[in-house]
Amino acid sequence: MAKRIPAHVTIIMDGNGRWAESRGKERIFGHKEGIERVRDCVEFASQQGIRYLSVYAFSTENWSRPAAEVRGLMELMAAAMLKEIPKLLENDVRFRVVGDRASLSPALVAQIEAAESRTAGCRGLNLVIMLSYSGKWDIMQASKAWAQDGCPEGGIAPYLATAGIPDPDLLVRTGGEQRISNYMLWQCAYSEFYFTPTLWPDFRKCDFQAALDSYAERERRFGLTGGQISELKENE
Ligand code: IPE
Ligand code: IPE
Ligand code: MG
Repeated sequence: MAKRIPAHVTIIMDGNGRWAESRGKERIFGHKEGIERVRDCVEFASQQGIRYLSVYAFSTENWSRPAAEVRGLMELMAAAMLKEIPKLLENDVRFRVVGDRASLSPALVAQIEAAESRTAGCRGLNLVIMLSYSGKWDIMQASKAWAQDGCPEGGIAPYLATAGIPDPDLLVRTGGEQRISNYMLWQCAYSEFYFTPTLWPDFRKCDFQAALDSYAERERRFGLTGGQISELKENE
């Protein structure tokens, strides 16, 4: 039987700073190396037939880091976005950014919009960069928009910043911490979690494969009993 592949994998890319510091380097070197791993993962996810790959690049709380690190990170992201567009187009990757754009510089927002519109017609992997994002921010902004629309029946889900993107099937966190750090709090209600001590700049295809292998072995029950799930599978 073919292995079950998650439609949406999301990654909390943690450990860049420690990776750099353990080499006696500035934290920004870790962030730079981390971008290389995003590129590798995009390639691997495409090959595996994963439909959506989202990555947590910068949280709402990360704005409180030292100004130089924040500036360095934003510069790295802007540069990577510009550089990678041809490769994304070549590989049919649709690029999107999800997060609080009001907190980003107008120049970065313009770059994001350009990358999104240039790849809008791509039909391969959907790459989603979660930037200036937090789960609580998302639930708040969605709730406000929902209330403004008169609280329609369907609830807040269609108002979340990730609307149109399926909820993650698999959440991977590198760097050893076993926490969600204000990530997709609503969307990860039934995601499978995979934690690895590997620091993000060391995360290779074999590590990604190990996460997929772990996912394939799990039984998702969504609140039902094991017996009900077996029945559903028989009727598939
Ligand atoms: C993840 O790596 C990247 C961001 C949060 C921007 P960290 O920078 O958190 O690295 P550690 O956890 O300090 O090693
Ligand atoms: C989570 O990592 C955010 C990103 C990976 C972008 P943090 O390093 O900010 O999380 P904490 O502070 O260890 O919980
Ligand atoms: Mg960290």
